[in-house]
Amino acid sequence: MNELNAIVDDAKASFAQATTPADLENIKARFLGKSGRMTELMKGMAALSVEEKKTRGAAINLAKQAIEGALNNRRQALADAELQVQLQAEALDVTLPGRQRGQGGLHPVSLTLERIEAIFGSMGFEVAQGPEIETDWFNFTALNTPEDHPARSMHDTFYVEGGSATAPNLLRTHTSPMQIRHAVQHVKHHRALLGGEQAKGELFSGDMPEIRVIAPGRTYRVDSDATHSPMFHQCEGLWVGENVSFKDLKFVFTDFCRTFFERDDLVLRFRPSFFPFTEPSAEIDIQFQSGPLAGRWLEVAGSGQVHPNVIRNMGLEPEKYIGFAFGMGPDRLTMLRYGVNDLRLFFDGDVRFLSQFQ
Ligand code: PHE
Repeated sequence: MNELNAIVDDAKASFAQATTPADLENIKARFLGKSGRMTELMKGMAALSVEEKKTRGAAINLAKQAIEGALNNRRQALADAELQVQLQAEALDVTLPGRQRGQGGLHPVSLTLERIEAIFGSMGFEVAQGPEIETDWFNFTALNTPEDHPARSMHDTFYVEGGSATAPNLLRTHTSPMQIRHAVQHVKHHRALLGGEQAKGELFSGDMPEIRVIAPGRTYRVDSDATHSPMFHQCEGLWVGENVSFKDLKFVFTDFCRTFFERDDLVLRFRPSFFPFTEPSAEIDIQFQSGPLAGRWLEVAGSGQVHPNVIRNMGLEPEKYIGFAFGMGPDRLTMLRYGVNDLRLFFDGDVRFLSQFQ
């Protein structure tokens, strides 16, 4: 029996020394293989008597079971260790920050336009959009700026194909054509609601809800330096009713500027000016009371009481309807709000600049 115990101990010690499953299988052969030690012992039983075979056989079987048990334990241990090594090698550090796809965001001028829309929206203004390719009629003539009017020379623009020699198509030089387009639709709609026939060219003097609208969008002029770009933005404002006066313009625009810049002490100045489509007209300047721009007058918009000829071109009777309009520069407002000093940065498309506004 001591001999069997010694073999079992030897097997256990040998299995323990195996460092890989292949190693282990080789060592196993030494004990359980065809010419392994246990197999040899079994062979040696042939010469024994039946009685001896019984006891010897049982003892050998016990030893064999012990060796097989030790072998299986070692197999399991090596397999576990191998799995452990593999897991470690293929480990994922789930705490590492992911590789993110760059997130887009709104352009600073778009942020300004959204802000303008929200503020005027809260004051009951609709938002309208119109074409960037305009006809000569909407861009100039309907706005009381006939052909050969000197004011046209300040609006040199890009002419596009289509239209005619006397009525060319062009890239709009301002958002003011939207005054006409929107008002005409508004009048048409409310006139239709009232019913009845309309004589050709008859101006509307019935009742209708006030026109209160802003029209933001892209505009174009032949102009290019640090503060002018051939493409730029404007936002038109129009309020027409039966009793809309310059004081409403002053109130609305002052309220807008103070809300936009979040400065209750912002001061506005309405400086007399000229536009063919407003009379009287005023340039609107603002002045900050603190900060880097404090004390300077900064021009932000043109404005005025809508000219009676323009009211007529809207299809309205100027004896009954009156109002004001303004046109401001969202690019300029964005520069002032964020302290940007070169307009061209807005249109270069450099993400290092643009990502600062996200
Ligand atoms: N359209 C004018 C411009 O581009 C601005 C303006 C709009 C002035 C509305 C008066 C009324 O300069």
